[in-house]
Amino acid sequence: MAAPDEPRTRRGPGDAPARSRPVGEVTRGTTGHNRLRRSDRWTAAVYGPLLVSADRPLVVDLGYGASHVTTSELFVRLRRVRPDVEVVGIEIDPVRVAAARPYERPGLSFARGGFELPVSRRPTLVRAFNVLRQYGEAQAWAAWDLLRSRLAPEGVIVEGTCSEIGHRAAWVALDARGPRTLTLSTRLAGFERPSDLAERLPKALIHRNVPGEAVHGFLRDFDHAWALSAPYGAYGVRPRWMAAVERLAGTWPVATAPPLGGRRRWRLGELTIPWSALAPDERPRP
Ligand SMILES: C[S@@+](CC[C@H](N)C(=O)[O-])C[C@H]1O[C@@H](n2cnc3c(N)ncnc32)[C@H](O)[C@@H]1O
Repeated sequence: MAAPDEPRTRRGPGDAPARSRPVGEVTRGTTGHNRLRRSDRWTAAVYGPLLVSADRPLVVDLGYGASHVTTSELFVRLRRVRPDVEVVGIEIDPVRVAAARPYERPGLSFARGGFELPVSRRPTLVRAFNVLRQYGEAQAWAAWDLLRSRLAPEGVIVEGTCSEIGHRAAWVALDARGPRTLTLSTRLAGFERPSDLAERLPKALIHRNVPGEAVHGFLRDFDHAWALSAPYGAYGVRPRWMAAVERLAGTWPVATAPPLGGRRRWRLGELTIPWSALAPDERPRP
């Protein structure tokens, strides 16, 4: 396997990507229409101003899978925010690149590559969904490092995981300094308890959901806030979610003001919290 922490060609962070084998490995290509709608909506709301202010913003959708569809949807959604944004879907499997190429149009293209991001200029935004979950925990951290080194100066990465049809998701936003936030997002119909979202945690956190780690304490307290908010359930799941998040914000640094927090975001079944509140005790060794 092409270990993400050992790029085949050693380069400085500012160097142009060399034409060597892509960094990473081909994994399952599962994807689907609207699977990433929740994170697209959040990205447009939270990082829309970044795209608007950027000079010639480039967005990379890394590991788009067996179909062009989530990249095409991201393109349409981000063009509403920044009409000249360019989006490149990058996929390590050449067969999947060939299958996506017929869907290219001005501003939207597809190319073969890996974590080294073989694009012509530094991206303002990199989205990678359901990609790192198929790697080891240390490899996921190394991939974060490599991706961060490729960003434009103000650039961000949105890296996450979701359920088969996207009703439940969790994602981390990172910039050049490291991970900044974790967002949980769920369809509220059929929702039972916050800790059910644990199975969607990104790779860097999923193995840390054990007693003694911050993310475990957070989900435990969220479940408690959810239980105490049960009376709001008489009005529906949404009021109960909002009450639980507001209660949780009393003891955890949950974002309570736009663009990351507040009732407008919470009512979508979302919650964002600084990464620093949940960071694992120590980074895994390679
Ligand atoms: C499960 S699919 C995810 C598809 C889409 N992002 C989604 O969430 O619906 C994961 C894809 O990531 C690709 N992949 C894995 N590692 C990669 C890498 N280092 N660079 C580019 N693509 C990669 C795999 O080949 C696979 O097609």
